[in-house]
Amino acid sequence: MSYAFEAEGLVKRYGKTTALAGIDLAARTGTVLGVLGPNGAGKTTAVRILATLLRPDEGRAAVGGLDVVRDAAKVRRMIGLTGQYASVDEDLTGTQNLVLIGQLLNLRTAEAKARAAELLADFDLAEAAGRPAKTYSGGMRRRLDLAASLVGRPDVIYLDEPTTGLDPAKRDDIWNVVRTLVADGATVLLTTQYLEEADALADEISVIDHGRVIAHGTPASLKSVVGGQTILVRPADQARLADAAAVLAAVSGNQPESPSRGVVTVPVEGDAAFTEVVKRLDVLGISVTELSLRLPSLDEVFFTLTGRHTEEEDAA
Ligand SMILES: Nc1ncnc2c1ncn2[C@@H]1O[C@H](COP(=O)(O)OP(=O)(O)OP(=O)(O)O)[C@@H](O)[C@H]1O
Ligand SMILES: [Mg+2]
Repeated sequence: MSYAFEAEGLVKRYGKTTALAGIDLAARTGTVLGVLGPNGAGKTTAVRILATLLRPDEGRAAVGGLDVVRDAAKVRRMIGLTGQYASVDEDLTGTQNLVLIGQLLNLRTAEAKARAAELLADFDLAEAAGRPAKTYSGGMRRRLDLAASLVGRPDVIYLDEPTTGLDPAKRDDIWNVVRTLVADGATVLLTTQYLEEADALADEISVIDHGRVIAHGTPASLKSVVGGQTILVRPADQARLADAAAVLAAVSGNQPESPSRGVVTVPVEGDAAFTEVVKRLDVLGISVTELSLRLPSLDEVFFTLTGRHTEEEDAA
């Protein structure tokens, strides 16, 4: 089995903060590794080490078999990085940004221009190509940033929370780009705070927390940690909330929860339960403004693994 990148026992400390406490990450060539974790888990730190931008205090990492510290220059030629925060030059146009990067990568000017035009078209930025990046919307900047990381046709691509803050349509565009890159043979490391995103794109997922991998597996195996799906009901009439909860309890055999005002949720094993809930709500004349069957969220997976919510501060 060949790994496009591999990290073993990475440790990184900032004063008293341990950003990475010894993590292992690896992706086979041509696959997507999802690195899933809440704020401060160590995602960006791990990406920066794999991208040669930061030295680990302990442990080792390699890309294409080359060490990220000793062979940093060679590693840089194989990778593309889209950071968490847009890194394009605000005063340059979309085209100028991409041509500049092409030139830094030693492409001839004509080649750099051709590559820029191709990427701008792929990312739906052709019309805005001649405008300074400072006039771009957040989603456009994110796309330009992603395009910038692909100028050199890297084999290994790191995407650090590429869709945080994007609307669903733009998020789907990015997802499609990732799928195309992988279909063309690239290997992708994608960090995200959304289980749904890791589920949609990743072959394998490493869940990290406090700089440690707390779970690793396929999307299906991670979701099975929580077990099945969740049904959510929001009765139109608040007075029927208890009745709706009773229906969920009866159908699922599980204890419903009320995660926010006016809604009740319950975990279920399969989608058959959903039809049964719909029937019973109808029989009891409980009309609803929201009714859904969904996969567990990162927070639910995280809660099952750690006993706390992703947003909770640790007592320590
Ligand atoms: N340059 C730095 N100096 C000091 N502490 C740092 C530095 N970079 C990261 N940290 C700390 O290391 C920990 C991990 O940070 P990191 O940015 O890797 O998390 P993350 O998983 O990317 O979080 P987010 O989802 O918010 O982007 C955090 O506690 C953070 O405060
Ligand atoms: Mg980060």
